[in-house]
Amino acid sequence: MSRLYLVTGGAGYIGSHVVVALLARGDRVVVFDNLQQGHREAVHPDATLVVGELGDVGALRHLFGRHRFDGILHFAANSLVGESMQQPFRYVGDNVTNALNLVRTAVEHDVRRLVLSSTCAIFGLPERVPIDEDVPPNPANPYGESKLIIERILRWADEVHGLRSAALRYFNAAGAHPEFPIGEDHAPETHLIPICFEVVLGQRPFVEVYGDDYPTADGTCVRDYIHVCDLADAHLRVLGAIDDGSCRYNVGIGRGYSVREVLDAVRRVTGHPLPARIGERRPGDPPVLIADPSRIRGELGWQPRIAELDEMVATAWRWRAAHPQGFARRQQAS
Ligand SMILES: NC(=O)c1ccc[n+]([C@@H]2O[C@H](COP(=O)([O-])OP(=O)(O)OC[C@H]3O[C@@H](n4cnc5c(N)ncnc54)[C@H](O)[C@@H]3O)[C@@H](O)[C@H]2O)c1
Repeated sequence: MSRLYLVTGGAGYIGSHVVVALLARGDRVVVFDNLQQGHREAVHPDATLVVGELGDVGALRHLFGRHRFDGILHFAANSLVGESMQQPFRYVGDNVTNALNLVRTAVEHDVRRLVLSSTCAIFGLPERVPIDEDVPPNPANPYGESKLIIERILRWADEVHGLRSAALRYFNAAGAHPEFPIGEDHAPETHLIPICFEVVLGQRPFVEVYGDDYPTADGTCVRDYIHVCDLADAHLRVLGAIDDGSCRYNVGIGRGYSVREVLDAVRRVTGHPLPARIGERRPGDPPVLIADPSRIRGELGWQPRIAELDEMVATAWRWRAAHPQGFARRQQAS
């Protein structure tokens, strides 16, 4: 049965991929995005794009008055960890207030399903790795704190108002859609793989590696990279299960790659020597973040289809090589 979903932040990197996945299985989609980080061209033409701001409760009420949503996927957020350390109140304030606006409006309009883009940043320096859902959250930055507060708000929205929710704690999203022309394009870019591509494309002189003296095999930080289409699949599966009760899942592939391994993968895929320099550690960067995805595998039958780093990088590179300036600058040029 075709359902209508509201996707906040659906013009952004992960949201735009989930929109494509929802449409592909026959659902209908309204994207709500202020286009601050998102891109109009990233929104599939079969989705309805409403340009708006989550801080504007009137706009949300108008939106919910016009559409009867079967569920909400909430991607829209400020999500730069470093920036959150400089502007903590903006991060906690905006992310939490905007989520509250959305949840309140959903409750007012009797919408009963919400999937939250949460993050492994809620764990801070985790007590153990790989990180399962029982590891106590302990955010090390205001960005992670804001997502944890939203998870807690959602608990009460369920208990008091019956709004079922799923918090998906993403690890590092990577890659691009293999068929539909969308990919990762943030300004400023803070994610390693697209930064590497900027070097390959001559837009940056080198990749800065933030520290090589961590207690890891090669001294650089280790992260769990998950292909964005596998992440999209996790959303589709959780939407099918959410009516049985609110839930939370750590979503990664359960395997880590070091910064050096990522650089080598980009070199193999692009054939570029990719100069790199070792810089200072970034404050608060945990040495290793790897998910334990046993729960989502066991309960939802989720499996990553693209688990090899080279393949993730190759899908990302295919899009970026075809759009060297990304979305926004390509738009300006045309
Ligand atoms: N990219 C990752 O690896 C990663 C990892 C963990 C969690 N997350 C979370 O996943 C979500 C999506 O991440 P992404 O990388 O696609 O980010 P993104 O910045 O590409 O997408 C976010 C979208 O939300 C929109 N937006 C932001 N604030 C808004 C507001 N107030 N009103 C309306 N629209 C607004 C932006 O314009 C953008 O299109 C975020 O919530 C992020 O915290 C991402």
